[in-house]
Amino acid sequence: MDFALTQDQKMVRDMVREFAVNEIEPIAAEIDESREFPKETIKKMAGLGLMGVVIPEEYGGAGMDFTTLAIICEEISRVCATHGVITAVTNSLCAYPIYHFGTEEQRKKYLPALTSGKSLGAIGITEPAAGSDPASMETTAVDKGDHYVLNGTKQWITNAEAADVFVIFAYTDPEERHKGMSAFIVEKDHEGFSIGKHENLMGIRATGNCELIMDDCKVPKENLLGGEGNGFKVVMHTLDVSRIDIGAQGVGISQGALDAAAKYAKEREQFGRPIGKFEMVQDMIAQMAAQTDAARLLVYRAASLKDGGAERFTREAAIAKYFAAETAVAVTRMAVQIHGGNGYSKEYAVERMYRDAKIVEIYEGTSQIQKIVIARETLR
Ligand code: CAA
Repeated sequence: MDFALTQDQKMVRDMVREFAVNEIEPIAAEIDESREFPKETIKKMAGLGLMGVVIPEEYGGAGMDFTTLAIICEEISRVCATHGVITAVTNSLCAYPIYHFGTEEQRKKYLPALTSGKSLGAIGITEPAAGSDPASMETTAVDKGDHYVLNGTKQWITNAEAADVFVIFAYTDPEERHKGMSAFIVEKDHEGFSIGKHENLMGIRATGNCELIMDDCKVPKENLLGGEGNGFKVVMHTLDVSRIDIGAQGVGISQGALDAAAKYAKEREQFGRPIGKFEMVQDMIAQMAAQTDAARLLVYRAASLKDGGAERFTREAAIAKYFAAETAVAVTRMAVQIHGGNGYSKEYAVERMYRDAKIVEIYEGTSQIQKIVIARETLR
């Protein structure tokens, strides 16, 4: 397995790193405080091709590979996890399933707007009573001839406040459980669709996380995505792809925290010398560096399997997401510890990184769900 980055991947990494440092880092603390969705930077990112990374050029995408998408998610998350997850959701949870499972008409209708930043995408899986167990969702879709009528409420939806296009999951046949779920492309202007409560989150605070309410929501028949009854497979495959990018988000948060802690350890003096000279601080720096590197390699392995055309990379995506999430929480905790009292203050970015890191262990399948997936795939 060769994990050396190609010239193109290095070029994209450097370009995104420069953009992230110049355009995103300066507003990261501000949007964490205000919870204002960063529409302007997301538009600029779309202009750089970062909102349709793996989508072919004929639909307005950048036509790059999944490893490059992971690198982009890492670089953005290194300075701001809010921008990182907006990038991951738009690319892998909305544009990707429309491309992968969509008809030619659906691709032509929705992808150019998503990739150009004219519209923003989101996904609606989770409900108030269906989190780790999406098969227990209560949203229904009833076939009315030329359209479906959707009823239900989705919760914890990243991008919801600003999104125009949603991939929504509902039961067309609730009796059939996994085989009775279907996916739909829903537009924010579809009759009966509205945005509910805006969540006040601990971290990733400017992600426009809201409820979605479908009250007799009319969705045209042609917006069924991937065929009736295939919704569970659509959601599971899409999550396999997206877990790679959320793993990359964990790597980015970890790298950002490690960089900040290393800088601080070299500058901050106690007992007459920089604290980085003390072995107990070095112990933390070493753990942070080793875990971050290991997480990155796991993310690259999962992405390279997808790039190589593997049908299933469920186990590798779950391992990458699980390890990177645990790493992000452990590394940011140590970064705060190295900063001492300053790390507990909003004056220093590691305080925000520690709060942001926690969500990586929760969304797109908790660490416990990843372990279930890893164990099932290993024992298969
Ligand atoms: N790819 C394709 N098909 C898959 C699959 C995969 N990765 N995983 C399962 N399937 C298929 C199975 O083969 C099976 O098909 P058959 O009936 O034909 O045999 C069917 O789906 C049912 O599979 P399971 O019996 O394994 O299903 P389950 O109900 O036990 O669930 C689970 C498995 C892995 C625990 C799943 O419920 C899960 O992943 N839960 C976590 C949910 C989650 O990640 N939610 C995230 C919400 S989105 C989000 O967080 C976005 C955000 O905010 C940024």
